[in-house]
Amino acid sequence: MMNMTDFITQLPKAELHLHLEGSLEPALMMQLANRNGITLPYADIAAIKAAYQFSNLQDFLDIYYQGANVLQTEQDFFDLTWAYLLRCKAQGVVHTEPFFDPQTHTDRGISFKVLIKGISAALKQAETELGISSYLILSFLRHLSEEAAFETLEMAMPYRDQFIAVGLDSSEMGHPPEKFQRVFAKARAKGFKTVAHAGEEGPPAYVWSALDQLNVDRIDHGVRAYEDAELMQRLIDEQIPLTVCPLSNTRLKVFADMSDHTILKMLDQGVMVTVNSDDPAYFGGYVAENYMALYESLAMSPAQARQLAINSIKASFLPDERKLSIIQQIRNV
Ligand code: ADE
Ligand code: ZN
Repeated sequence: MMNMTDFITQLPKAELHLHLEGSLEPALMMQLANRNGITLPYADIAAIKAAYQFSNLQDFLDIYYQGANVLQTEQDFFDLTWAYLLRCKAQGVVHTEPFFDPQTHTDRGISFKVLIKGISAALKQAETELGISSYLILSFLRHLSEEAAFETLEMAMPYRDQFIAVGLDSSEMGHPPEKFQRVFAKARAKGFKTVAHAGEEGPPAYVWSALDQLNVDRIDHGVRAYEDAELMQRLIDEQIPLTVCPLSNTRLKVFADMSDHTILKMLDQGVMVTVNSDDPAYFGGYVAENYMALYESLAMSPAQARQLAINSIKASFLPDERKLSIIQQIRNV
């Protein structure tokens, strides 16, 4: 039997919950700040890393939006995306469905075209040079208005072939899914898939409304569903995927310690849970480190790791034929 790190790396995996802006490593942040003549509020890389101490989601978001200010040009968005894709390659991620937050950039005067072109070029190059497939997800910022989300969707329509779904992220408490019911209905009518962050810090009621009012295909995080037995039964019966992010949950104090995380209990009860990195540059690890944390703190077995990898493929938006072929490869590792 090979060691767990090698086993996890060799399992072909999909990543379904990754914010491109959250993959901005401190070294690249410095480099882009220098390139663009921006002064960061940090003296050096060590000072950036030292600032990454969070007591909740909002603490993190404040720092994450500030970091995104260094992203200015198409080349910057390409470099950001490409650096993430190289991590995918090194860790056995064969398919990824990353989020980007257009409003984080358009609200500071960067054009939608600049960001979509840089991101899409890197994703395309990864397909040919790294053998990694991808579908992009446009995420609305939920602390902003429904009207702003409608405007963002309109702005994106000339590029509709470059993203597959819309999502919902940012500050969860006080911004329930139903605030965006109409814009999600419009996106679905236009043929987009839909996902939403729900039940990260917010209550199980937010997971219910993401399902019933937004009709989402997947729930991002969803860990607080564990508190609601009826909701758990629904997730199991309908095999609704949850894109869980263990290191994020402990860094943002959703769970006090990794040994308290409920992902493997949910897995063993038959919930379609998957393992993802969320914002790896801020939370201390990419997807393989998230699997490893479950091994180290929760004694995840090889069979559980394999099932989590299979779930990541099943829960993706890939066509059935490619799903079956990757799942066969997972069974052969
Ligand atoms: N934006 C980036 N990461 C996020 C998270 N974990 N929750 C909500 N919004 C986010
Ligand atoms: Zn997230």
